[in-house]
Amino acid sequence: MKPVRLITAVLAAAALSLPLAAPAAAGPSPDHRPPDHPRHSKPGTLRWAAPDGFVIGTAVAGGGHHEEQDYPDPFTSDRKYRKLLARHFSSVSPENQMKWEYIHPERGEYDFGMADSIVEFAERNGQDVRGHTLFWHSQNPAWLEEGDFSDEELREILHDHITAVVGRYAGRIDQWDVANEIFDESGELRTEDNIWIRELGPEIIADAFRWAHEADPSAELYFNDYGVEDVNAKSDAYYALVQDLLAEGVPVHGFSAQVHLSTQYGFPGSLQENLRRFDDLGLGTALTEVDVRMRLPESGVATPEQLEQQSDYYEQALSACLNVEGCDSFTIWGFTDKYSWVPVFFEGEGSATIMDGRFTPKPAYFALRSTLLEAGGGGRPAPPWAGRGR
Ligand code: G3I
Repeated sequence: MKPVRLITAVLAAAALSLPLAAPAAAGPSPDHRPPDHPRHSKPGTLRWAAPDGFVIGTAVAGGGHHEEQDYPDPFTSDRKYRKLLARHFSSVSPENQMKWEYIHPERGEYDFGMADSIVEFAERNGQDVRGHTLFWHSQNPAWLEEGDFSDEELREILHDHITAVVGRYAGRIDQWDVANEIFDESGELRTEDNIWIRELGPEIIADAFRWAHEADPSAELYFNDYGVEDVNAKSDAYYALVQDLLAEGVPVHGFSAQVHLSTQYGFPGSLQENLRRFDDLGLGTALTEVDVRMRLPESGVATPEQLEQQSDYYEQALSACLNVEGCDSFTIWGFTDKYSWVPVFFEGEGSATIMDGRFTPKPAYFALRSTLLEAGGGGRPAPPWAGRGR
């Protein structure tokens, strides 16, 4: 929770003699975020525009679909990309580099190279890090998915992984997406495709959070998913699960919605209401992978109308988060179309991020910046060039 908002909430609760929130499990104080340091936060940038205690983040491009493209690794090779990554963002999320297939490629062998460089980059640039992810049905290495393990061995493998990865970055990662996408679209647990739930039963979810908390008691531990923006069957399933876990004292600290949107569909109108009900449980909330894709015309170039609609969706998503007390982290899934996952996954669609392939800001960039400013950010006067958004 942002410090100013926390004080307001405390005063309001005191006045009404109400408890602040349902008793949450033991865990880190959610109001740990200091204001962005002026050394890193140059006037006119997105991070400068953000109110104190609110982080604006992006995925760090690398691994995954990037490996199939004809460009080198973006994070390590593209100097302009790195410059903008440091300049505009106060939080970073490894897009693929902390997933099992990258960080744990062979049984008992870890490769922390890419993850280390992202965490070190973040520290140099005064950025938070969101760890992604520890418990998922996708991007697991073949040795794990195809191995023949007893339940006891599998449990040990997960315990070792969480202890090694979370422990390595203890005190340096602010939020972990501990469990990613554990429910399907109808709100059923993924008992088939999630190896952990299939083999070890749903109780393993609580263990994953307990082990992560043991490895880093200061990290905020999240459930993260797509399609949970609205109040719907899937977000209801999380709402029920986290209440059970909190009642058992399991260290769950947050719920995050990915927010992969498309202009072909309406904006998820109950996003704010949904975030607020998790906030009311005493959890932190975050938007973690925001992008807004569109079906491109034959020219391949988005029309001004499409870009306006996109800008409106970005702005609405950011406002929903800013309007909820404990939502203090807004991350986009890449900031430039040059490296977006969207055209690789959705044929004929693209232009999903806030800058085009040449890093030219789109209306969505300016909408985010002015929304942040309206929410109280931008501690120092912006220079004349700020309007250009670079
Ligand atoms: O591993 C296969 C390989 O065996 C095969 O030969 C090759 C041929 O295409 O594909 C490889 O899979 C790729 C995978 O990354 C490997 O790391 C996929 O094609 C590639 O599309 C995939 O991309 C990543 C995707 O997660 C995987 O689910 C994207 O880079 C990454 O942006 C995306 O990120 C996810 C978040 O983690 C969770 N939320 C949704 C979000 C978008 O899908």
